[in-house]
Amino acid sequence: MRSQGACRAVARRSSVPNLLIPVEKTPVPLSILISGRGSNLAAILGAIRGGQLAATVAIVISNRADAAGLAIARENGIDTRVMPHGDYPSRDAYDRALVGELRSRRVKLICLAGFMRRLGPAFCAAFPNAILNVHPALLPSFPGAHAQRQAFDHGVKVTGVTVHFVTPELDAGPIVMQAAVPVLETDTAESLADRTLTIEHGIYPQAIQRVLDGGWTIEGRRVIFPQS
Ligand code: GRF
Repeated sequence: MRSQGACRAVARRSSVPNLLIPVEKTPVPLSILISGRGSNLAAILGAIRGGQLAATVAIVISNRADAAGLAIARENGIDTRVMPHGDYPSRDAYDRALVGELRSRRVKLICLAGFMRRLGPAFCAAFPNAILNVHPALLPSFPGAHAQRQAFDHGVKVTGVTVHFVTPELDAGPIVMQAAVPVLETDTAESLADRTLTIEHGIYPQAIQRVLDGGWTIEGRRVIFPQS
């Protein structure tokens, strides 16, 4: 196999661009929506710091004032906004307020990270194929809350993590990336949830970068990425 150095030498001699030389990527502004502890937010920020994710976080929005993730955002110098859904007369009014806030920040991708609030059709239509969610199970198995507990109680031998585009239907949008988590004989629901969370922290930033890289299409339910 030819080394990358050899490829560089070939590229210098010819006018053909060498696609193997890493290209500096322009950071893309994201928004992260949270409701709680914010460990996925922290993982995304870590990936940005570590250079694995070419993004900036323009704003973190929480629908709960007591979300621990807000402190993580503030410690990292990121703008935060608390928008309690109870302050709005309807789901639609809340969604419209969120859309307004996100548009004003010119974010290119919205990442739900433990945001415990269904987003309606108007919100999803405002950001077509630009909202991601991470779910702690292999969808379409075990949608909704407490997915790790549902998987454990069901007795599955393999569970996992799904990153998917968000549509108005709960945990049902096209799948971007999945990773499996084996269920061990010694597991409890808690130990399984802990291992699943660690996998979430690895694949969510990767999936975000893959979406930001572009070149993908959605055919039916299938997200088709370019061959690398
Ligand atoms: C994660 O398990 C995520 O998959 C689910 O909500 C949880 C959020 O955890 N949607 P955290 O707030 O990111 O720690």
